[in-house]
Amino acid sequence: MLKLGVNIDHIATLRQARYRELGPDHPLSEPCPVQAAHQAVAAGAHSITAHLREDRRHIQDHDVLRLKRELQVPLNLEMALTPEMLHFALKLEPAEVCLVPENRLEVSTEGGLNLPPLIEAIRQANLDLSKNGTRVSLFIDPVEEQIHAAHACGVPCIELHTGCFANALDTKTQEEELERLRKSASLAFQLGLQVNAGHGLHYRNLRLFLQTPHLDTLNIGHSLIAHACEVGLREAVGEMLSLMRDGHHGKSEE
Ligand code: PXP
Repeated sequence: MLKLGVNIDHIATLRQARYRELGPDHPLSEPCPVQAAHQAVAAGAHSITAHLREDRRHIQDHDVLRLKRELQVPLNLEMALTPEMLHFALKLEPAEVCLVPENRLEVSTEGGLNLPPLIEAIRQANLDLSKNGTRVSLFIDPVEEQIHAAHACGVPCIELHTGCFANALDTKTQEEELERLRKSASLAFQLGLQVNAGHGLHYRNLRLFLQTPHLDTLNIGHSLIAHACEVGLREAVGEMLSLMRDGHHGKSEE
């Protein structure tokens, strides 16, 4: 069965935009990414992804600690391969770690890892993390060289970057990108790697993307959270209006 991993980073982005200074224990601090994770799981999500970035722009350490404590589904920790993050992940022991490139100026992860120069470092990190039962995945572009390098790293899993497919505006480019993903997924599968995918997948491009073979898990964030805002806003406005009506009514009766 194809599995869905829900990325909750954008919930934290919204919270940090308002409550960065007040801290997590402030009673008004909302929305809560951990609560969002529980809702996603209640709706059937198979895993939860959170990216603890070096600059802590959205998800915070305390969010990840709570997710690890409270979740009944696997936690997929996205992180850069730095000594600080490796230390954090070795202590946390999440079910999965997805290694991603990090660039301070990017809005969101922009490309896959360039693996060949990193093979030795990743081999060692994978040995250390797997001793704790953590499965390591590598976020890479759908490129043959990267898939062979992922295999050489000894990790069990890759996540194919679907951004170029998602950003393609015309049918020809979309087909070309899909073909790259199809070939890459087949090669990875032949090499014994679990194939995950993510970035930019949304309600409209999913059906076409699903022509990619051997998929295990799709990690999706932005379009889910955006859609939740759209479909949830009606209820939220309705509740506020109802409170206003009640309060106003009460006042005029005094
Ligand atoms: N997979 C990885 C490795 C990511 O870094 C992200 C977020 O940038 C996603 C999946 C989810 O992408 P999106 O938010 O576009 O669905």
